Amino acid sequence: MLSFDETKMTPPAQPVLSVVPDDALTGTGVETIDFNAARVKVDEKRILNCRADVNQLVPFKYEWAWQKYLDACANHWMPQEISMSRDIALWKDPKGLTEDERQIIKRNLGFFTTADSLVANNLVLAIYRHITNPECRQYLLRQSFEEAVHTHAYQYVVESLALDEGEIFNMYREVPCIHAKDAFELQFTQELCDPNFHTGTPETDSRFLRNLIGYYVIMEGLFFYVGFVQMLSFGRQNKMTGASEQFQYILRDESMHLNFGIDLINQIKLENPHIWTPEFQQEIIDLIKQGVELEYQYAVDTMPRGVLGLNVQMFSDYLKFVANRRCKQIGLPEQFPGAQNPFPWMSEMIDLKKEKNFFETRVIDYQVGGALSWD
Ligand SMILES: [Fe+2]
Ligand SMILES: [Fe+2]
Repeated sequence: MLSFDETKMTPPAQPVLSVVPDDALTGTGVETIDFNAARVKVDEKRILNCRADVNQLVPFKYEWAWQKYLDACANHWMPQEISMSRDIALWKDPKGLTEDERQIIKRNLGFFTTADSLVANNLVLAIYRHITNPECRQYLLRQSFEEAVHTHAYQYVVESLALDEGEIFNMYREVPCIHAKDAFELQFTQELCDPNFHTGTPETDSRFLRNLIGYYVIMEGLFFYVGFVQMLSFGRQNKMTGASEQFQYILRDESMHLNFGIDLINQIKLENPHIWTPEFQQEIIDLIKQGVELEYQYAVDTMPRGVLGLNVQMFSDYLKFVANRRCKQIGLPEQFPGAQNPFPWMSEMIDLKKEKNFFETRVIDYQVGGALSWD
């Protein structure tokens, strides 16, 4: 009888052909397995430039990241759970909505249908491989799936209302205010997608942090907010309640993406204080201010006239209020002293404790965790 003694095992063969030098892959999780290497110690874990094995989820160091992953999973939803029948009737009724109201809906779908793809691309193509921490990666994977659900939700609204798909999905290549926001964001993705880009120097680590701020703080924390207010305002007036509810679920997810991003950014700052220089802080402040301008232009463009009790002055105030909050969240001084929030009801919508109410309206018409049949 053969006896198996693992201590006598020889290390497995190395790959015959490796085109990428292994040190270029260090920390990505796809470097050659270091056979017989010591077990992971929690103190070795870091968000960036970490040598501890990224393929081993535990021991946890960043409990906040793992908790957010669990919370995100607990908030699972799908677009088909929300009935669109009242929206379809209202949209078809020639007197159901004004032209300005229809324009707002189409423009927001135009922006969001591709915006979530840009966010997902940035997650999987630009930042994921540089995050050398498995619990953060676990959240990024969950977030990536949620971005897919959001794109699905927008597509579902477009399909339900029988809108012209080409008109909506191509808007970021046709409507200047949407194009400007997306082009602003893409510069951050493109920078990190350069195959020669590696973190590990103060210069590249700050470029990486700039990308996180560009996406989590400016894209998901600012560029989504005019659209959210506008779409949620329909629901508050009992119009387009299905679309509005889709956006409500998305807002809940997005506020968690934002909170994860803020924690991630602050943790990187804590571990790399040398990159948070006065010059770098100024660069970030300038980007946030540019973001406010771009988003204000978007507000003007989506609603040149006051609609639904909203007007562009309110959005100007709101964006300054939101930008102040974002600055504070990442440890920067507020840039618009005294800015007031004209939409206090938005904070109520974001409040995660409200989740019970969300689910009361759900229409479950798909299979949840269906039992497997083995025969
Ligand atoms: Fe999203
Ligand atoms: Fe997001």
